[in-house]
This record gives sequence, C-alpha cells and structure tokens, in this order.
Amino acid sequence: MSQDPVLQEQIAYYRVRASEYDRTTGTASPPKGWRKDALGLLRQVEPCEWILELGCGTGQWTQALLTVGQEITAVDAAPEMLAINERKTGSGRVHYACADLFTWEPDRHYDVVLFAFWLSHVPPGLLDAFLDKVGRAIRPGVRLVIVDQHAPTDEDRLCAAGGIYATRPLVDGRTFTIVKVFHDLTSLERSLTGRGLVVTTHRLDDVFFFLSGQSPRSLSPHNPMRTLERTIDDDGPDDRDRRRRPPRCRDAQWPHRGAGADVARPSPIGGVTDGGSLRSKARRESDPLKRCGAFGRRAGTGGSPVGPGPDR
Ligand SMILES: C[S@@+](CC[C@H](N)C(=O)[O-])C[C@H]1O[C@@H](n2cnc3c(N)ncnc32)[C@H](O)[C@@H]1O
Repeated sequence: MSQDPVLQEQIAYYRVRASEYDRTTGTASPPKGWRKDALGLLRQVEPCEWILELGCGTGQWTQALLTVGQEITAVDAAPEMLAINERKTGSGRVHYACADLFTWEPDRHYDVVLFAFWLSHVPPGLLDAFLDKVGRAIRPGVRLVIVDQHAPTDEDRLCAAGGIYATRPLVDGRTFTIVKVFHDLTSLERSLTGRGLVVTTHRLDDVFFFLSGQSPRSLSPHNPMRTLERTIDDDGPDDRDRRRRPPRCRDAQWPHRGAGADVARPSPIGGVTDGGSLRSKARRESDPLKRCGAFGRRAGTGGSPVGPGPDR
C-alpha cells in the first residue's frame, strides 16, 4: 500500500464513491459522444487472448474488453468497485485483483494493457515508475491503450485544489482530496515512444483522448519491456499454465479509514505543492456540490443529473 496520504485518500474516495460512480459519470446511460467514439476504437483492437485492465472501476471498459479478449485481469484498489464490476460483467472470463497499483507488480505478460481514467490519478513524480511497470506487463508485439483527459473540464477547474490535486465531493456532501493531473499529451507520447511504442493518439474532443501504443516485436536492450522479455519466457513449457492461473490478489490490506478520518497534510508529490491551502481532511461543507459544480443528483433533491464531470 502506498504511504502517501493523498494516494490513500484517493482509494478511500473511490471506495465510497463506487455505488454512485455510474450514475454521476453518466456511464449508466448508453454511450454517446466521445465515449461512443472511444468504445468504437477499442472494439477495433485485434482479438487477443489475455488483457490487463488497470483501475477497472465499475466495468464500463471491462464489458467492452470482453468482446476483444478471451480472459481479462481487472485490477483496482477499491473492492466496492470490483464487486460492481463483477456483478455487471457477470463473466467468469474476468479475473479480479484487489491491489494498489503503486505497489502492485504484474506477474505475467498480457496481449493488451488498458487503463481508462487512471493516468490522470498518477502523480507526475510517479509516472515514469508506473509506465515502467506497464512495460513489465506487456511483451513485444502487443498493444497499450490509454483513455483519459488531456485537459480539464469546467467542473475540474472548479474542483482544482492546487497543483495536481482536486477536492472532490460525494453526493452526500463529504469531500476528499485526490490527485487529478492532466498529463501533457506530447510528453506522454514522447515517453511512450522512448519505451519502444509506436503511438497513435485520437483526441476525441477538447478534453478526452484515446491513445494506442503498439509495441514492435524487436525492442532496444535498454527498454524495460525487453527486460521482461528476458525474465519471462513466453514460449517456455510453463507459459500455458501461467496463462490459465488466476492472478494473485496482492496487497490485500485495505485502509479502513472512514471518510471522516483525519489524514496528514498531503505531501508534495512530484515536487508539486498544494500552495498551502489544502487540508486533506475529509469533511462536510455547506454545499460542496455547488462549489465544485454539481455532477450528480443530490440525494433527495430530485435535481437533474449532470453529465460526465470532473469525477473520473
Ligand atoms: C476515475 S476511476 C476510473 C474507473 C474506470 N476505469 C472507468 O473509466 O470508469 C479510477 C479508478 O482507479 C481506482 N484507484 C484509485 N486509486 C487506486 C490505486 N492506488 N490502485 C488501484 N486502483 C486505484 C479507483 O478505485 C477507481 O476505480
């Protein structure tokens, strides 16, 4: 489990938020706009055997991935998210792992690795280590897909809490501090190209992107993906067994911090400070939804739900 208090609070936030996530992000409705485009692009990925999905959440992408891969390993730190995902997808072809992605390590190779709306929760200071880890999960010739935001929505701007942080409200008014960072697309592409991927990026609109990185079959010896190729023999006699083995659930000690638990002031991650204004204590505020832009139906108010906002 990551020691950073904000990264822990981020997990606590999504654990509590799981039950309202689909409703407040608009993912409960049929896809349209950028989401429809992204799902269309995803369905064009060549059919494959085993997919890794990181930060799988309630399963909107997991469901689509079932049409692409035979087996899926879906990792998330929030057991509540995994439970909804499992209920929704209802497929024995999805293998769930409850793990903190900052400490989790892949223990096999995958044909496709996807993460949607996860990268923007990775602090810049941990981005390289995270991408190296992804490199250890894929073998040459396979594909990486990233769906995320390259720019903030209006609601994101309202929730911004200094530097890379955002203060997010739940429908019941509690607020949490999480990381929300809009990684520069050009730098991200450069970083992935430097890791041996051939990258194609689709800007779906002013905010969202679908990035596809193809790993060529032959990679530089300095490439982390190449290192993995040497340490795990894909064609070895044990490989079939390894493919069939369900993934281990790592790091199963979950924070039992309630939403109101006190946490220390967030430490600067990646050298970015919060400008001294941020208290990372989950708290009730008079009207946080109004302050941050309502992106959910408030309990009991009958107010109309607002489409996908800053809450991914
Ligand atoms: C914005 S949601 C995206 C969910 C899903 N991919 C989607 O697009 O609907 C971010 C997800 O990351 C998970 N998450 C947050 N911190 C995590 C961590 N340290 N390790 C693993 N998953 C984490 C949350 O539980 C949540 O499901």
